[in-house]
Amino acid sequence: MKKIPLLILFLCASFCLKAENGYELWLRYQPLQDKGIQLNYRKQITGYFIDGSSETLSIAKEELSNGLSGLLGLKYTQSNSASSPSVSLIAGQGTSPALSHTGIGQLLLDIGEEGFIIVSKTINGKKKIIVSGNTDKSVLYGIFHLLRLIQTQQPLDQLKIVSVPKLKLRMLNHWDNLDRTVERGYAGFSLWNWHTLPGLIDQRYKDYARANASIGINGTVLTNVNANATILTKPYLDKVKALADVFRPYGIKVYLTARFSAPIEIGGLKTADPLDEKVRQWWKDKVKEIYQYVPDFGGFVVKANSEGQPGPQDYKRTHVDGANMLADAVAPFDGIIMWRAFVYSAEKNEDRHKQAYSEFVPLDGAFRSNVMIQVKNGAIDFMPREPFHPLFGAMPKTPLMMEFQVTQEYLGQATNLVYLGTLFKECLDSDTYTSGKGSTVAKVLDGSFNKDQQLTGMAGVANIGNDINWCGHPFAQANWYALGRLAWDHELSAEKIAEEWLKMTYSNNPAFVQTASKLMMESRDLFVQYANPIGLHHIMGTGHHYGPAPWVSNLNRPDWNPVYYHKADSIGIGFNRTATGSNALAQYHPDARKRWENMLDCEEKNLLWFHHVPWNFKMKSGRTLWNELCYNYYKGAERVAAMQKTWDGLQSYVDKQRFSEVKMLLKVQEEEAIWWRNACLLYFQTFSKQPIPKEYPQPDKSLDYYKNLRFPYAPGN
Ligand code: GCU
Repeated sequence: MKKIPLLILFLCASFCLKAENGYELWLRYQPLQDKGIQLNYRKQITGYFIDGSSETLSIAKEELSNGLSGLLGLKYTQSNSASSPSVSLIAGQGTSPALSHTGIGQLLLDIGEEGFIIVSKTINGKKKIIVSGNTDKSVLYGIFHLLRLIQTQQPLDQLKIVSVPKLKLRMLNHWDNLDRTVERGYAGFSLWNWHTLPGLIDQRYKDYARANASIGINGTVLTNVNANATILTKPYLDKVKALADVFRPYGIKVYLTARFSAPIEIGGLKTADPLDEKVRQWWKDKVKEIYQYVPDFGGFVVKANSEGQPGPQDYKRTHVDGANMLADAVAPFDGIIMWRAFVYSAEKNEDRHKQAYSEFVPLDGAFRSNVMIQVKNGAIDFMPREPFHPLFGAMPKTPLMMEFQVTQEYLGQATNLVYLGTLFKECLDSDTYTSGKGSTVAKVLDGSFNKDQQLTGMAGVANIGNDINWCGHPFAQANWYALGRLAWDHELSAEKIAEEWLKMTYSNNPAFVQTASKLMMESRDLFVQYANPIGLHHIMGTGHHYGPAPWVSNLNRPDWNPVYYHKADSIGIGFNRTATGSNALAQYHPDARKRWENMLDCEEKNLLWFHHVPWNFKMKSGRTLWNELCYNYYKGAERVAAMQKTWDGLQSYVDKQRFSEVKMLLKVQEEEAIWWRNACLLYFQTFSKQPIPKEYPQPDKSLDYYKNLRFPYAPGN
């Protein structure tokens, strides 16, 4: 027999994989490639029975039958009874008859309404897998988890999983406008087609809910934080109701953003003063009306007195007055208010870094019990790398909720492969020291230091739109996935999450997973290196925030200008936030700020965040600061070139369509990295007056060329 050349085999492997457009996300349920493992699962799962009937359990049954049939390559359907001899997998609420003799009662005592168990049991001499919880929703979570175990080829013989979410509210915040544009959206238009709702229920609404349920997300804020009061009018509430009805069986509650001035705009009142009786009554009536449409409505997210949005301070009232008024309106229905701490004012001459802390810390303990303060991970604004927000740990009597940005506003938008699991973890694992060593941000969130804390949560600003693959960049799906997984369990590692996602989304092949997860794990660092190295921040293009523009200095507000943040001059570069500067550092616990306080031993990745550093300052590498800056910009861009090579090497594991999409985007990413590098170095050079070391290829375009680039139709603006 003639030998088939290796190259042909290799090409065949990738061409033989069915072209995929990414719509299926991580729920593809393609037949497992390893036939031995597949056979073993078939032996272990010979049939299944999910006890009970509800919309949620119907979804669980359908998911299980699709999942098992696809992955194991056999037709699976629900058996007629749990006692049927073929049934080796039984699921249902702990109280359901099919599970009454399984002895799992003890395990269900402390897992609440959302936790689930997956355990192996020998019953009447036969091995069974039991999936259970205290509600139908928890059973659905358990089914998704079991499918994930199979998708990622985990052993099923000795199962003893008890999984309880560490945070109660696990949410997506959609910055979606009623005209379907998405603020900071890079994946097409909004999923919510307000015009055809409520009559048309797009299949995508269900697919969206299903994907969220698979990672434990249980809340969605449908509208932009820069809110439009129209969403609170009757015709729109009808549309909101239609979406809420779709999401409910998937365990997802709907929330809205409340425009503080709505009583004036749609209520005909003269004021929105939160202490005005008429205003208070208007909100109470409005909320009552909303609950008639959506009986399990979750509540409101509010952006008030921030970036020009209306708020209680317009009437000389406080955030407490505003939040508590709304909290009182939703309290009778068990609703909550998520009041955002992203506030800074043009009138104040205080470092923007300090303003949220200055405004909110004095209010600790004054909010109603159904108010959460929603805090961005850092004090400026979702920067590529940012120290944790000093508010975490500084308001012990108020539940704080995390706000991460899943959409990559400042992290390469839809053209750059940037895995955010590492960014999320960096923040969650940061030690605030506010309750002693080990007081991580994650523990502040989950209420570890406040036994009375009822509300806990994490939100992610969604990166989802109507693009066929939901998120724009194929790898951006991993960030949606990571947000959900970490909101459920912040102890998971970024690496484990990346591996899971890769196995489910692409391939279980160990060589693929190892290489691709390494690529994901370094991707955020790499972006920081060619865009915002050594603690630089907020030096991106005006308005659309696409690409570099560190030279911008003409915007209305000082703290919208990149020059405000990098402060480059003839002496050096960076923002002095020490005691001799803005002293933002004082907002951190003394033990937390130690690693940043002193320029000489400051953690270098945040050096220019906290210090104005001379150009000739000696870095740990032995280079001067200027040379280190050059080194980083060049190294970062170089690493993107290496990323392309790595991806090319993975061709045989990925279908043609998704492979070439990522390949093309990596090429774009390299061009953008070079753009960041050249534009920033040429500009900073006008201050350092030093050459870009000769060993590097010199920029082939002028600073003016970069300054004159315009992107009038860049997305998300
Ligand atoms: C950023 C973003 C805005 C957004 C704001 C917010 O500044 O660019 O588009 O409205 O954050 O979080 O409110």
